[in-house]
Amino acid sequence: MLDEQAKTTILRKIPHALYICGVKDGEEVNGFTASWVMQASFKPPLVVNCVKQDSKSHAMIEASGVFSLSFLEDGQKEMAQKFFKPQRRVGNKFEDVEFYEGETGCPIISDSLGYVECRVVGSVPQGDHTVFVGEVIAAGVHRDGEILSLESTGWNYGG
Ligand SMILES: Cc1cc2nc3c(=O)[nH]c(=O)nc-3n(C[C@H](O)[C@H](O)[C@H](O)COP(=O)(O)O)c2cc1C
Repeated sequence: MLDEQAKTTILRKIPHALYICGVKDGEEVNGFTASWVMQASFKPPLVVNCVKQDSKSHAMIEASGVFSLSFLEDGQKEMAQKFFKPQRRVGNKFEDVEFYEGETGCPIISDSLGYVECRVVGSVPQGDHTVFVGEVIAAGVHRDGEILSLESTGWNYGG
């Protein structure tokens, strides 16, 4: 029998940073606060990005096959707070956020440490999230700084 409490306590010790995953579908752009992200290969450069199946962004990644990750800086908790709200409830999250479109067409947050853009090369649709494997096809650095850690926000996503 799985010890539910132990599972939650120990899984929440996995360290995470916070990103805004930028997505698009045709002309439409959207984004969400992401934490279940890590590098998965050097050559080719791959990252994994685990995306909630009932989110708007999930449908948009499935449709377009691309996503971006903007790396938030320590102190940008408000930005993370804005993007964890679902688009179907709050509408266009980019309305008052400065961004530009990268070569994939995905939105990149101007006020961030930098970004990667990915093309989806695989996906594992198990459980309530899909593990998207993305090949990094573009990257940029906006400025130097420390990344916003999940721990520093006092929030939890996981367990
Ligand atoms: C701290 C934190 C971390 C999160 N990490 C992820 C994540 O890694 N993957 C994910 O799909 N959703 C994650 N979410 C939830 C999404 O941000 C949330 O479902 C969002 O509303 C989806 O937006 P959309 O429906 O407009 O696509 C996280 C939320 C919080 C508060």
